[in-house]
Amino acid sequence: MNNPIVIIPQPVSIRPGEGFFTIDDATTMFVSEGAGRVADLLERILGSKSVATAEPANITVTLVDEPIPAEGYRLTVTTEGISLIAPDEVGLLHGVQTLRQLLPPEMVNGRSGSARVPAVAIEDHPRFVWRGAHLDVGRRMFPVAFIKKFVDLLAFHKINVFHWHLTEDQGWRIEVDRYPRLAEISAWRSSTPIPGTTDSSDDEPYGGFYTKDEIRDVVAHAERLGVTVVPEIELPGHTVAVLAAYPELGCTGGDYSVRTTWGIEDDVFCAGKDSVFEFLEGVFEEVLDLFPGHYIHIGGDECPKVRWSQCPDCQRRIRDEGLADEHELQSWFIGRVGRHLHDKGRSIIGWDEILEGGLPPGAAVMSWRGTEGGIAAASQGHQVVMAPTSHCYFDYYQSADRNSEPPAFPNSLLALEKVYGFDPLGGVPPEQHLMVMGGQSNLWTEHVPSGEQAEYQQYPRGCAMAEALWSAMPSGGRDFTEFIDRLGLHQGRLDAMDVNYRHPTPDTPIGKPPTGNRPT
Ligand code: ACM
Ligand code: ZN
Repeated sequence: MNNPIVIIPQPVSIRPGEGFFTIDDATTMFVSEGAGRVADLLERILGSKSVATAEPANITVTLVDEPIPAEGYRLTVTTEGISLIAPDEVGLLHGVQTLRQLLPPEMVNGRSGSARVPAVAIEDHPRFVWRGAHLDVGRRMFPVAFIKKFVDLLAFHKINVFHWHLTEDQGWRIEVDRYPRLAEISAWRSSTPIPGTTDSSDDEPYGGFYTKDEIRDVVAHAERLGVTVVPEIELPGHTVAVLAAYPELGCTGGDYSVRTTWGIEDDVFCAGKDSVFEFLEGVFEEVLDLFPGHYIHIGGDECPKVRWSQCPDCQRRIRDEGLADEHELQSWFIGRVGRHLHDKGRSIIGWDEILEGGLPPGAAVMSWRGTEGGIAAASQGHQVVMAPTSHCYFDYYQSADRNSEPPAFPNSLLALEKVYGFDPLGGVPPEQHLMVMGGQSNLWTEHVPSGEQAEYQQYPRGCAMAEALWSAMPSGGRDFTEFIDRLGLHQGRLDAMDVNYRHPTPDTPIGKPPTGNRPT
């Protein structure tokens, strides 16, 4: 029986060989020094056999000084054994994820008995450095075990950025020692709309937050798998939950409450009060301590200017700083926070609204309202992540037959084929290609009441996104039919990992994507 070689995301090159190598309890393994994370993953997947300290071994995993592109690897299986090489440890981790996919699907979580691995030579490296997946935990709270499983599945698909959207109008989810009322007040709301609606009420108190230990646990878990966690702390908008706890940080001083409906909130941080920046610097001091990655996401989207236009403090700031209007005030706000984080050795990334009124130096842009913002930012010399609603919003329905689907973002549609055709460089002038770091999926959770539902929204679209971000774009475009064939086998792995994915149907209509901005 031929074991078909099906890898998602598709590697750069696969050359099938003859025969198999069989892994069993007698198989020996060697892993280079300096690749402890790889040894851990390999032991978990291949079984109890501990990794040897010396060659020769049946399975060798070696850091090498060879011209393999960053994060790339070479995996060679013969009837005699398995060799995995890469110039960096992350490349080796990706190689182990590929090896996992060469095992029988039911062994994807760990070998039991003997496992036949088909002979093959695989060369591989990613197309983009930023292969992301965003998850909104502000609208919903998901247990740490779920978050870790979410990250496991990202790593399995070679997605290397987990964008953790931690703060929202409807809930603040990260413990900050200096500001205990964030956990006591901002993390809790009195009710939630029924999924599929925006302003009904279930009359149930809801909330929670991640303790610092829980956050450290998630970040360390992701780090072991080569996934960087990018925290998002929203500002200046999407912050009324903070104002509910610290009303002096708003323009009017209150009354504020943690929001219980979806949509955009007018009450935002006051841009005129220095205490707001003191607060943010205090929060970021603890956030930077928890998240070692280079980028810190500061939100920046959907900030109404109505309070600022009537606030004496904000108007004074506009005059004092010589700003033209409230749009430049938003830019000034982002710039002040950006400079602070830059001084701490980090860079900010924000939604494309941070372009309004001019971008601070070094800021990266996440383009969600189409790709135009990303293209404009790239032309100004800024790095860009493409996440347009048209291809990347996983809170959208997966089928035009919405009645057959669980409630999702009203009147939306993002079918699997559309995700599969995503090209972060689409429409970007060639001279700016190097500014595009990659792309990502965004899973907003207004209509996603459970982890099960989150997995349903994420998969299999996440498989298509992984391939769009990792694999080379074939000159004729991607072949969706061929992908669907591979996905058929890959589903067995998702089953083994207990993923509640949507079963794609060959006739899932593609339909037209919604037009215009996403009205949250
Ligand atoms: C967004 O969807 N408001 C970034
Ligand atoms: Zn103000």
